[in-house]
Amino acid sequence: QEDLFKNVVSHAKEYGFIFPSSEIYDGLSAVYDYAQNGVELKKNIREYWWRAMVQMHENIVGLDAAILMHPTTWKASGHVDAFNDPLIDNKDSKKRYRADVLIEDYAEKLNLKAKKEIEKARERFGESFDEEQYKTTNPRVMEYLSKEREILERMGKSLGNGDLDDVKALIEELEIACPESGSRNWTDVKQFNLMFGTKLGASAENAMDLYLRPETAQGIFVNFLNVQKTGRMKIPFGIAQTGKAFRNEIVARQFIFRMREFEQMEMQFFVKPGEEMKWYEYWKTTRLNWHLSLGLGKQNYRFHDHEKLAHYANAAADIEFNFPFGFKELEGIHSRTDFDLKAHEQYSGKKLQYFDNETNSNYVPYVVETSVGLDRMFLAVFATSLKEDTLEDGSTRTVLALPSVLAPTKAAVLPLVKKDGLPEVAQSIIDDLKWDFNVAYDEKDAVGRRYRRQDALGTPFCITVDHQTLEDKTVTIRHRDSMKQDRVAISELRNIINEEVSV
Ligand code: GAP
Repeated sequence: QEDLFKNVVSHAKEYGFIFPSSEIYDGLSAVYDYAQNGVELKKNIREYWWRAMVQMHENIVGLDAAILMHPTTWKASGHVDAFNDPLIDNKDSKKRYRADVLIEDYAEKLNLKAKKEIEKARERFGESFDEEQYKTTNPRVMEYLSKEREILERMGKSLGNGDLDDVKALIEELEIACPESGSRNWTDVKQFNLMFGTKLGASAENAMDLYLRPETAQGIFVNFLNVQKTGRMKIPFGIAQTGKAFRNEIVARQFIFRMREFEQMEMQFFVKPGEEMKWYEYWKTTRLNWHLSLGLGKQNYRFHDHEKLAHYANAAADIEFNFPFGFKELEGIHSRTDFDLKAHEQYSGKKLQYFDNETNSNYVPYVVETSVGLDRMFLAVFATSLKEDTLEDGSTRTVLALPSVLAPTKAAVLPLVKKDGLPEVAQSIIDDLKWDFNVAYDEKDAVGRRYRRQDALGTPFCITVDHQTLEDKTVTIRHRDSMKQDRVAISELRNIINEEVSV
């Protein structure tokens, strides 16, 4: 799995999807740039979301709020006081760790120990081996797995109660349980706010302290009444937004999974108090179906219902995805009650209430939120699509089997040779198709190598112009996944591509 993940990172770089930010200065940790193909894939994912959320729902409208917001926003939202990560420093190595991630690492080590024992047993017992039974009968495996569960539960409790001394005690105990990690010398656990600060104003005395938004949601809450009134929206209705968010993540790793500058696609759905659970269930199902519609495999998704809830929520679940490093959060669905709107009423002194014509009364709506990371979606789609195929003749090919609707380039047009007028015909096909699709031209190398390059870029079709084209206006069209080639009329190309890449 580690190899698979390394492959994903290097493929993303080699084929112009993702580069480390400011690489000539050795990069900036957990910040990435989307390159010529990455920007197209990312845009297509964003549009796929926008179409499903805004275009397909008559009662959902869009918004593009500013990244910079009045600083009181973040007091009201709770981010100034409660958007913290627990940190611990190692006095010997002078390294800083996020306490919860450190504990999760220990849990993973215990899990690995259990897995090793299981694999050894599998080799010993062969065909007759029953893994489930072994897990519940072998004392060593049982001990590792129950310890893993216990420490994760205890961590959840101590962090939830803000008992930082217990978090430190847990880390010290784990070092004894996993002596191979070597003894370390820890400081106390401290809370660290994740928001990036900046300043508005030219002179030092008058400058106002601002934050870069850590979520896009608050731009929706503060605009709730503006949109409701000017759009004449009737509850239930939603406001959707995509845009950058910033978090000073301490342990930022796993490529674009946890970044310091990232993009969210969020939707706040405003409902009548008392109806939130119905809508919460509706959005859980609807959002999972959206993910499934991409065809990455049902087995790669699961719900994780939260038992411990944030201060603002009365129900919350994650849609987890099977990333190359295991199941991790991809999207959050939260029933946020009236917490945010009430808090903004209190801090701003302005009413944020909905007037219900039917009952002639005012109320603060409840909110069900769906929030998915665009970069995480990118990673999910990209990593799952990257495959090494073994062909009939035993050779292999790398193919990025992206859902066609998301592919950066829909077709590549290739003249078989660089002469006899074939490049000109290829160019005229491009000039026609480019009104509807992203199409590329390639004349370098033998045509087989050009096919392989387009496979690795995820291009669903290769269109080859040869000498026969000059006679009868037909071309070959090659399908990325099946590698099947058909001879078709140039005039049919638009329909064939359209059929495959539209939803
Ligand atoms: N408004 C709710 C909210 O922001 P969240 O669970 O903190 O909730 C929502 O974030 C989603 O944003 C996550 O499910 C994840 O996909 C994405 N996300 C959060 N932090 C991220 C980071 N540092 N890098 C990339 N994506 C991130």
